[in-house]
Amino acid sequence: MKTVITESTKEAAGFIARGGVVAFPTETVYGLGADIYNDSAIRRVFAAKGRPSDNPLIAHISNTGQIETIADSVSDDAQTLIERFFPGPLTIVVEKSDHIPDIATAGLVTVGIRMPDHQLALELISACRTPLVAPSANLSGRPSPTTWQAVLEDLEGRIDCILKGEPTEHGIESTVVDCTGPVPQVLRLGSISIEKLQEVVPGAYVASTPATDKPKSPGLRHRHYSPTAKVVIYGKTALDQQMKPLGFIGLTDPFGEFSEKLICDSVESYARSLFEFFRRCDRNGIQTVFCEPVKGDDIGAALMDRIQRAAEK
Ligand code: TXA
Ligand code: MG
Repeated sequence: MKTVITESTKEAAGFIARGGVVAFPTETVYGLGADIYNDSAIRRVFAAKGRPSDNPLIAHISNTGQIETIADSVSDDAQTLIERFFPGPLTIVVEKSDHIPDIATAGLVTVGIRMPDHQLALELISACRTPLVAPSANLSGRPSPTTWQAVLEDLEGRIDCILKGEPTEHGIESTVVDCTGPVPQVLRLGSISIEKLQEVVPGAYVASTPATDKPKSPGLRHRHYSPTAKVVIYGKTALDQQMKPLGFIGLTDPFGEFSEKLICDSVESYARSLFEFFRRCDRNGIQTVFCEPVKGDDIGAALMDRIQRAAEK
């Protein structure tokens, strides 16, 4: 299959209408979209990524009016979060409507809904006249793509089209909040921090790392965000015990010899750059990537979550 690269949302929407799969930019990472009502298109999303079929997809909408067509019920807390944070890097999990095919939500009775804060994404979804399911547009297990070139690197020849945009603003995926219980529970940290959520829903809390076989967010069970290189937290182990060449990403210039190095001027820019830096290290044959730890509050919590997951393999 030839992968068409376009800047036209109309052309991209044409592929979706014909049952195709299209990568598109959002404010978090690039997504791989398909019509939420088209079973076979959704199957192609799973196939293109090599994604396990037990991992549910997020429904992306372009206006809040679409929520009632895909959700069965929306709690008061969910409504509060929608009013405060949509459009934005927040996914709310609510009870799903029977109209959505089971394959979209991996058989769950709930659906994650998100309205991206990104003009091209919103234009594309509007032009499709249907919500789009969209996981991150990477091969399963690889770091999420923050540029259209990273999408091409993973999925060329496996998807119909890439809607080309700028590098993404946040660089890590949305915060996922389960709103089906008595109080909202954060299943995946993201750039909307727990502190920000608690400003409007004081009881909101972060789920502890799932220890059971059936965590609420199935995606968290799968390996994630990893480059081929080994990821190590800087300061925890001696440099000379690790395979060279070495890479480093962080906020302060490190001691030691690094073949690839990125010093970021803020935690936000660190988060924005992390996944692309992982990919750059892989392209350049780096064997070990050191990541400087940051304070685990606000966006730092989400950044540390991604670094720790990448370091776990
Ligand atoms: O920022 C983002 O969320 C990006 C952009 C493209 O919007 N999308 C994204 O999708 O990161 P994905 O599929 O790579 O990650 C979605 C996560 C997975 O961990 C999945 O298990 C979880 O959200 N999830 C989706 N629907 C869920 C549901 N109904 N219940 C619990 N977890 C759900
Ligand atoms: Mg993903």
